[in-house]
This record gives sequence, structure tokens and C-alpha cells, in this order.
Amino acid sequence: MTKITGTDLADHLDALLEVDAFPPPESFAQAALWNDPAIYAEADADPEGWWDRHARALHWDEPWHTVLDWSDKPFAKWYLGGKINASYNCVDRHVEAGNGDRVAFYWRGEEGEERAITYAWLLEQVQRAANALTSLGVGPGDVVGIYLPMIPEVVVAMLACARIGAPHNVVFGGFAVEAVGERMAESEAKVLITVDGARRRGKTVPVKREIDHTLGTLPSMAHLLVVRHTGTECPMTAGRDVDWDQALAAADPLAPATPFDAEHPLFILYTSGSTAKPKGILHTTGGYLVGTAYTTKYLFDLHPETDVFWCSADVGWITGHSYIVYGPMLNGATSVMYEGAPDYPDRATWWSTVERYKVSIFYTAPTAIRACMSWGAEEPNKHDLSSLRLLGSVGEPINPKAWLWYHQIIGGGTCPVIDTWWQTETGQIMISPIPGITAAKPGCAMRALPGISAEVVDNAGNPIAEGQGLLVLRRPWPGMLRTLYKDPKRFVASYWSRFGPDTYVVGDAARLDADGDIWILGRTDDVINVAGHRLSTAEVESAIVSHPKVAEAAVVAKDDEITGQAIVAFVTPVEGTDTDAMDQEIRDHVAEHIGKLARPKRIIWTYDLPKTRSGKIMRRLLRDIAAGRELGDVTTLRDPAVTDRLRTLIADRRDSED
Ligand code: WT7
Repeated sequence: MTKITGTDLADHLDALLEVDAFPPPESFAQAALWNDPAIYAEADADPEGWWDRHARALHWDEPWHTVLDWSDKPFAKWYLGGKINASYNCVDRHVEAGNGDRVAFYWRGEEGEERAITYAWLLEQVQRAANALTSLGVGPGDVVGIYLPMIPEVVVAMLACARIGAPHNVVFGGFAVEAVGERMAESEAKVLITVDGARRRGKTVPVKREIDHTLGTLPSMAHLLVVRHTGTECPMTAGRDVDWDQALAAADPLAPATPFDAEHPLFILYTSGSTAKPKGILHTTGGYLVGTAYTTKYLFDLHPETDVFWCSADVGWITGHSYIVYGPMLNGATSVMYEGAPDYPDRATWWSTVERYKVSIFYTAPTAIRACMSWGAEEPNKHDLSSLRLLGSVGEPINPKAWLWYHQIIGGGTCPVIDTWWQTETGQIMISPIPGITAAKPGCAMRALPGISAEVVDNAGNPIAEGQGLLVLRRPWPGMLRTLYKDPKRFVASYWSRFGPDTYVVGDAARLDADGDIWILGRTDDVINVAGHRLSTAEVESAIVSHPKVAEAAVVAKDDEITGQAIVAFVTPVEGTDTDAMDQEIRDHVAEHIGKLARPKRIIWTYDLPKTRSGKIMRRLLRDIAAGRELGDVTTLRDPAVTDRLRTLIADRRDSED
């Protein structure tokens, strides 16, 4: 195919904006696992029968007697009576079927190092790690924290926990150690699996040393298991800290996989809600495995013998859990795992990785696509991307232009693009085009998958025929969260109260078009989505106000060309503070408390925050000010002059670098 660049490319993409929808190429549809639209009606006619059938793709030690028990709604139970082991299904099963030599992960390090991780190697490592955890006193139900970079050991660690029924609590490596501490304390983790150091864009972060400062005070934390990755010196506390390599070498190589109840907890993953306190999303075993195995196979049209799958997310997010670890491994897939960032060591890294491993299915986030787009088509055009046959997007709405760029430049105009909508809470993809069936509209998540019921409703909860409303999910699905860890009341209040216990309220606004297709518009609550990372305004505000020179802070989102949304913080200093040159101090402070991902892009210092007469900060106005829009209704303001002063303040402010 001729590669187009420069103004020709811009014209080409502009012309494509006129195209309503892109049907799958005939050859793709013909060979696809799913190519008959009748599956929607089939699943709808008998959802439980559908989920019964798809659960049979896994190995169960004991069959279930009841597919779904919804009698105690909204607390669902799936595959009751069934017994299953997650790690057995991800690893042992493939080795027993004679596929031990199959590569599970082509791992590529930041400096270009490579490791080919086979299913057989994983089986041995997972068993040894399971025994190492057992010997540290970890048993079924005990929470194990995992704070590791993108290295194969993170997969071993997760599956070792699953093998012995110890729910893992993975914290994204980009979070600060303080956030790790908070999540460990909340979940009362007994052991934390971490690393000597992590590499970030050529620099080494001394993770273990940083962790020591935070974790010393956690009463429940009995041991740290330390993977040696960078060779960074770190103190090891005798009796508490254990070297991963030594522990695995000393461990028995055999650890039979114990069958657990289908509803045994598999993991907790903390995500941001509307308050400063993160929510511990609890997923259990049977249903989650069914949901991720099903979506990985059929949506990504996965042929494990021939495909090479690459989900570029970090394993510390739900996308990594479901589509780097569990979904692909349950299907015996070969995946790519990359340690670094898309622009390190250079902007060609991703495309040389696709070329090198002949990646056929690529799954990434709109923010990354937009960043690549801003770097130009030259780099991807220099590489042979012809192995690609399917592209996916996740995490935030994808604008049609980025969709088209992805489709044309990365997919050469021949790969279907699936815009997959889901959440940490849903565990599995819920709304998406089906690559062998759907004529996808750029920017549109299209339809709920077979077996899933999504609707757009008005403020009273009534379905609307067309137009804008709230996205809800009407019936339970196997991969759904079961509760919030140790906080069932918040679980009910957050998701199942507004329209009763039969309706899961997503927290996103959506538009239903005349064809009945769903366009996701974004969050309706105080959750900000920066580069596909979910953050709560309250969490960022509480980090900012913990700075000694800050009296008050209000955080809002502003549209951003690359990251989708960016954080703007309105900050009131303590009287008499000289705020010149204090922006960086605040940004560093946030990085230290939450992580770099939560740093405000812009800080606006002000002694005035627009408040209602009852003293509530009017975020709506702040959002208008941050976006430079005409202000909406200001009649309820305590002091209307405040907004004028704020507006002049931001006129000539620039965003912070990096
Ligand atoms: C929120 C969930 C699911 C993995 C990554 C994020 C937004 C997610 C899409 C999409 C528009 C999307 C929603 C959702 N979102 N996918 N395809 N189109 N928006 O997981 O951190 O739990 O965030 O991400 O707002 O509610 P998460």
C-alpha cells in the first residue's frame, strides 16, 4: 500500500470524515469466529443459557448447578456450585494439551532486551511462587499486594496468588508509594510483592527503598517479596523481606491447583470514585474468567495458533488484568508485553515491536493514538505493519479523527477498529462493534455485546428512543464486580440505588443515535479521565490541600487534545503566601501523594472560589472558566464579582510542561 503523509494525509482523513461507517472487509468477515448477526437475538432469547454455554470453554473441577443467582440483588452469584482454579485454566491446561512450548509473552524491555516466556516456564514459576507465598503464611482469602513494573514476574505473581486463592491487589507502578500504602492498609494485605527498582525512560526508580518508608507502619503487612530487576541496592529487613529468586529456588516446584468456589474472590483493584477514598472493586473467579475469556476470543477474533496479541495497557489497570493476563492466557494466546513508554527509547518503538513480533491484534488507548498522530505518520510508515489485522481502542471516547488515523495509518485501511467500552467494575468489555459483523462508525462504541443489556435512559430512568441520556446496564453479567471490598453499602449506593437494584448506573453519559447505536460522551460524576487514567477530583483536591501553604483547592477537568482531559486546579493559598514559582511545588506534592499521573496541568492561584450561598464550590463555573467558555447561570453565586476576577487571572496563563 502507498503510504500517505503530510497535507495529502490531512485531506485524505478529512474526506473520510464524510464516511458514516466502515464495514469489515469481506475476507475478515468470512474468516471471523463471529460473522452472523443472529447471535444477538440468540443470546437475548436466553441470556442464562448463553452464559451457561460460554462457561463450558473453561476447565471446571466441578460443574455449576445454577448459572445465576440474583435473588439477593444487587449481589450476584454466578456459576453456583462450580469449582475452578484460575491459574490452572491460564497455564496448566495449555501445557497438558501439548502447548508448553508456546510463547505466552514476548517480553521487550526498555533497552530492547527480549525474553520469550513459554507456558511451560510459567507453569513452573507459578507453582514455585505459589509455594513461596504459602510458606510466607499466605492462605486462601489472604490479600497479597503487587507493585511491580511491566515484567513477566508480574504475571507469575498474579497467577501464583490465584493458584492458592489469595486475592491479589495490584497497584499501578505509576502510583506513588503513599497510594500503595493506602491501598495495602485498606485491603489489609499480608504480603507485598515488589521490585528493587523500576525503569522509567532510561532512569531507575528505587522502588523498594521508597516503599520501606511507607510500609514500615502497616500492621497487617508481614512480608515483602522482592523481585530483582534493575540490581538497585536496597535494604532488606531480616525476617520481613524475602528475595523472590531465592524464595522461588528454595520452593517445591509442584503446587497442585486447588479448586475454589466460583464465587471465591480473585482480586481487588482500587479505582477512583466521587470521593477522595478509592473504591476496592472486588472480582470473583468463575464469572470473571468466563467474561474475559469470552470477550477476548470473540471480540478480538483470537486464533491462538496464529495470532500475536498486544494490549499496550499497564497490568496495574483493569485493562491489563483482563486483556494482558486473564483473557489472553485463558485462550492460550501469544502476547507481547512491553516494559516502556511509546516514545522511549524513541517514537518508533511501538511500530518496530509490531514488526518484530508480527503483532496481528493491537489494543491501545485513544490518548496514545492521539500522541502518535501528533508525532506524524513517518515512524509507522517506516515499519512493516502488515501483520496487523484487527485494532482495538479503550479507556475514553475516541474522536473520529484519531479513529480514522488509527484505521488508515496503523491499520492500512484494512483492519477493523473496535472501540470497546467497559470499566474496572464491569471486568469485561460490554459495548463494542463486533469486528466480523459491525459496520463501525468512527467514534462510536456501537452496541452491547450478545448477552449484555445496555440502555440510555432519561433522568427518571426511562429508556429514550434517541438522544442524550445516562448509560445503564440492565441485567447482571458474569464479569461484573460483586461488591466494594469491605463496603457493601457504598457498592449499593454507588451503582444500584438511583433506579433500583435491577439497574446498574454506569456514571457515563451517552447518546443513542437514530440507528440505536451508543456514543459514549464521558463521565457524569466528579471523575476525570486523564490519558485513560481514572482520577477523582476529590482525591486530587485532598492531595493539594495537604500542602502546608494551601488553604483550599478545587479541581476540574478541561478538554485536552492529547490526553482527552487534563486537570486544572484552582488553588487558594494560605494568607500571605508568595505563590510565584509555587506551581512546581504543588505538582511535585501531588506526584508524591498520588503519582505523576495526577499532577495538574494548570494551576490557577486565587483568593476567590465561586461559591453558592450555601458555600458549595460551583465546579460548573470553574469548568467554564478553565475552558474559556461563556459562563452559564451565575444567579446563585454568593459574589458574582468573583468570576470576573477569576476570568482575568487565567487569561495569560500557560499549561505546565511535560
Ligand atoms: C471509564 C472506566 C475499561 C478499561 C479502561 C478504563 C471511560 C472506557 C471507553 C470507551 C468512551 C470509555 C468511561 C468509563 N471509557 N472505555 N471505549 N469510550 N469512554 O477503565 O478506569 O474503570 O474507567 O472509562 O468513562 O466509565 P476505568
